[in-house]
Amino acid sequence: MELKIEFILNNKIISVVDNPAKTLLDYIRDNEGLKGTKEGCREGDCGACTVLLGEVINNKLKYKSVNSCLYPIGNAVGKHIVTIEGLSSKSLTPIQEEFNNEGATQCGFCTPGFINSLTGYVIENNELKTDDAKSAIAGNICRCTGYASIKRASENVIAKINDLNISGSERIKSLVEEKFLPKYFLEIEEKLLRLKTSLKVKDNKSTLVGGGTDLFVQNANALLSQNISFIKKLNLSEIETRDNYCHVDAGVTIEQFKNSEIISEHFPNLPSQLNLFASQPIRNSATIGGNIVNASPIGDSTIIFLALNSDIIINSKNGKRKIKLNNFYNSYKEIDLLENEMVEKIIFELPTTSTKFNFEKVSKRTHLDIASVNSAISISTEDEIITNIFISSGGISPIPLYLKKTSQFLINKKIDSQIILEALNIAQSEISPISDIRGNVEYKRLLLNQLIKAHFIKLFPKQIDVEALL
Ligand SMILES: Cc1cc2nc3c(=O)[nH]c(=O)nc-3n(C[C@H](O)[C@H](O)[C@H](O)COP(=O)(O)OP(=O)(O)OC[C@H]3O[C@@H](n4cnc5c(N)ncnc54)[C@H](O)[C@@H]3O)c2cc1C
Ligand code: FES
Ligand code: FES
Repeated sequence: MELKIEFILNNKIISVVDNPAKTLLDYIRDNEGLKGTKEGCREGDCGACTVLLGEVINNKLKYKSVNSCLYPIGNAVGKHIVTIEGLSSKSLTPIQEEFNNEGATQCGFCTPGFINSLTGYVIENNELKTDDAKSAIAGNICRCTGYASIKRASENVIAKINDLNISGSERIKSLVEEKFLPKYFLEIEEKLLRLKTSLKVKDNKSTLVGGGTDLFVQNANALLSQNISFIKKLNLSEIETRDNYCHVDAGVTIEQFKNSEIISEHFPNLPSQLNLFASQPIRNSATIGGNIVNASPIGDSTIIFLALNSDIIINSKNGKRKIKLNNFYNSYKEIDLLENEMVEKIIFELPTTSTKFNFEKVSKRTHLDIASVNSAISISTEDEIITNIFISSGGISPIPLYLKKTSQFLINKKIDSQIILEALNIAQSEISPISDIRGNVEYKRLLLNQLIKAHFIKLFPKQIDVEALL
């Protein structure tokens, strides 16, 4: 399958007829001969292939980092792609200078990825903080430096830019003046607005690509010979509230969901909990719809939406249907979705003042790892009596699981440690974990108990006697 594809690569307009499933990494290195973007793992884990992606959103040019090894050129249509060659040519940028001064580059394989991630961070954030900068480069791995020098270089960059007192509205212009970005960045917005952005939309027989962070890890080669279409072309990227409900389009990315004002207003702890979902470049690409349809038993956003008792809207040429998310999963990777259908939207009720929410995840490594077991809870109470409750968990069954019996048992119960212990026995009877690389059966059963206890200890510290739960 070949299509006309137009985007801007550094300072050059690309207009080619090519396979939309080709990854940006391959296009950049093989077609354009730009070898600064490195190929490491090809699985989104190392960050050596990180590039910047610019697009005009609500009349503003915005940049984010993405892993080019998992990013199909079909998704780059109408965007500005920046590689390390597009940031500097004759002289180093101040960020590169700091890496050089602090010995933050040795073999140099990882360096373009780090520079791109950090440049994306300084373009997009008016208030620069060390912890946020660390989070922006957390998806970049270096096997040489030991990270202390990279941390120093990043701190120096932040201090330098904070000293310059760069204004928010004209940030790109100021960063160009200070040589963090080359001059051509000033013309990009206008050029992007003139680019053609049309691409094939979904037909019955095509594979729908969201962010590609699952598809391109598993099937990158197979996709080259398939008919594919892109959710980005369907304008499904809004989060909005209607009456007491939140409507999340399937094309919303995890990072967009995490940074949404609606989400932080109603679920103040969720944005920081979502830092446990992959790295920022993966979250910048990965969509909510992809997480749900991928049907991984440990999908983090799926577990969150299950505890929110969400509905999903499924769309096809024959019309729309609405089903409960907890009825979507039949058995391992078997879902209630026909070939000609797609998930369009997720809808859930916003919490009232008597509703509390929590998400927990345990993985082998705290950050940048998928869960061994994860769990979420949404619980409403009146005078310490549970009036409504939804507990979900992943990694303990072939499907992402709503713990129906446990949740129903807890309704109308007064919150105390004894009732939680009784609920744990019921939870153990509803699950069927298997031993795998993320833990054996006994460990996963123990984890579920601990995560349910953690929900109640965090949400009801006064009612729960921690000693009694041991
Ligand atoms: C390095 C790395 C780390 C990761 N860490 C985590 C993690 O911590 N937690 C976690 O939960 N996941 C993690 N993932 C998995 C992945 O990022 C998520 O599952 C992501 O949400 C998938 O979304 P996507 O848009 O990239 O899906 P895609 O790869 O584009 O699609 C996945 C599947 O869904 C289908 N699809 C996509 N959108 C729709 C739609 N709207 N309607 C119908 N079908 C659709 C596709 O056809 C495909 O079958 C990680 C992945 C990588 C590579
Ligand atoms: S090559 Fe490792 S993240 Fe892309
Ligand atoms: S400098 Fe060698 S991998 Fe980072």
